[in-house]
Amino acid sequence: MSAPRVLFVCLGNICRSPLVEGVARQRCAEAGLAVEVASCGTGHWHVGEGADLRMVHAAAAAGFDLSPHRARQLRAADLDAYDLVFAMDSDNLRGIQRFVTSRSRAETGLFLPWTGAAPPQDFPDPYYGGPEGFTACVALAERGVAGLIERLRRR
Ligand code: 4NP
Repeated sequence: MSAPRVLFVCLGNICRSPLVEGVARQRCAEAGLAVEVASCGTGHWHVGEGADLRMVHAAAAAGFDLSPHRARQLRAADLDAYDLVFAMDSDNLRGIQRFVTSRSRAETGLFLPWTGAAPPQDFPDPYYGGPEGFTACVALAERGVAGLIERLRRR
């Protein structure tokens, strides 16, 4: 089977989904798992920007490099270009489902539940909070990605 193509989606594509993309890229490579990963946002406000520096620093402290990231917005074609399209929270999932048709190729779902990670179901948005929220996101991304790798291995 060719490498599955996986897209992670949040609101701004500057905090949660770039983090999960970076963690997934690194952990899948370490696991020897051929997976293509990318991320985007349902919103347009940050298109072209790098990841939020608070997220970049929290990720770097755990060994993940988010510096190459540039934000982009979700588009209808993504539902055909990717095999798995994961929302970070239920608002983002509604944003994704606006583009789903009966002919869409992608399976869509909430990231953390799909991976079998323990609660929460929704990946908390750290944008308006303090630095501890960004550190908590890194730990949650690690848990989710570990579950994702387990499930992809069984496919
Ligand atoms: P993200 O976080 O969806 O994890 O990238 C946010 C980024 C920006 C905004 C909200 C959440 N914003 O309101 O601009």
